[in-house]
Amino acid sequence: MSDNDRVPRPTTADLRPRLPSPLTEIDDDRFARHGVRVLLKRDDLIHPDLVGNKWRKLAPNLQEAHGRPIVTFGGAYSNHLRATAAAGRLLDVPTVGIVRGDELAGRPLNPSLARCTADGMRLHFVDRSTYRRKSDPATLTGLLDAAGARGAHVVPEGGSNSLAVRGCTALGHELRGRADVVALACGTGGTLAGLAAGLAPDQRALGVAVLKGGFLTAEVRALQEAAFGGVRGTWHVADDFHFGGYARVPAELTAFAADFEDRHGVPVEPLYVAKTLYALLALTESGTFPRGTTIAAVVTGAPWP
Ligand SMILES: Cc1ncc(COP(=O)(O)O)c(C=O)c1O
Repeated sequence: MSDNDRVPRPTTADLRPRLPSPLTEIDDDRFARHGVRVLLKRDDLIHPDLVGNKWRKLAPNLQEAHGRPIVTFGGAYSNHLRATAAAGRLLDVPTVGIVRGDELAGRPLNPSLARCTADGMRLHFVDRSTYRRKSDPATLTGLLDAAGARGAHVVPEGGSNSLAVRGCTALGHELRGRADVVALACGTGGTLAGLAAGLAPDQRALGVAVLKGGFLTAEVRALQEAAFGGVRGTWHVADDFHFGGYARVPAELTAFAADFEDRHGVPVEPLYVAKTLYALLALTESGTFPRGTTIAAVVTGAPWP
């Protein structure tokens, strides 16, 4: 077969993302009685495999990689690893996942990691102390060599590099003129950093931290400085709704998510989206939002599996 006969590698545009994502108002008397309107920004409908903020963060990285292998990082249940693996399958790009925890090597894979390998991702397990130092240049070089991935396009844990942050400005642009406050979950803070930069000057972004520790304000600031050369937009991180920390989902939150799903027919992802919606209701009930406020809640993901 000559080079001319080769089928061109698919691009992200060939994946036909549903963009702009739908924006739909919900009818919920718990908000209405406080004079607050709620819209759901359905980023979970952008693409069945690159769900929610995964599309917005990965698409610019996939374009930048120009078909080079992608290496990225995550824990044993990482949404980001699964999305990267799926992107690799869809775009015919090799992917390598560096996974936290060498104790996992040689054990049967959990369903999330099994999905990654089924999508063609090569997994490389590392001990937790090396994993923590993965941003240190010498450690990173060592990891890439050990994983046989030198020369690959490196995407950080959670996918939040400057390309991703700039990609998330499109989310803000789509919401200009549509809401006073835009709320979303924060893990690394990359989506908030980009969204806030894309909103109009009279709009505010509210990030709901799903991790304990109160460090996300500094992270978002650093991500904006790296991506845009300074802080952009009006934004705030709420640190009171992590429910004990990452992946902690107490019964009260599970019940809230199930009830929301019943009321509105929207699948509620438990680790991020449920905490965001819960925070919005609590803040509404405590009178944080003046009557007449319109809030757009970003549905940044979908339940898995
Ligand atoms: C479903 C979902 N929502 C929100 C986030 C938080 O995004 P970020 O890490 O950009 O703050 C994540 C993590 O990537 C996620 O998986």
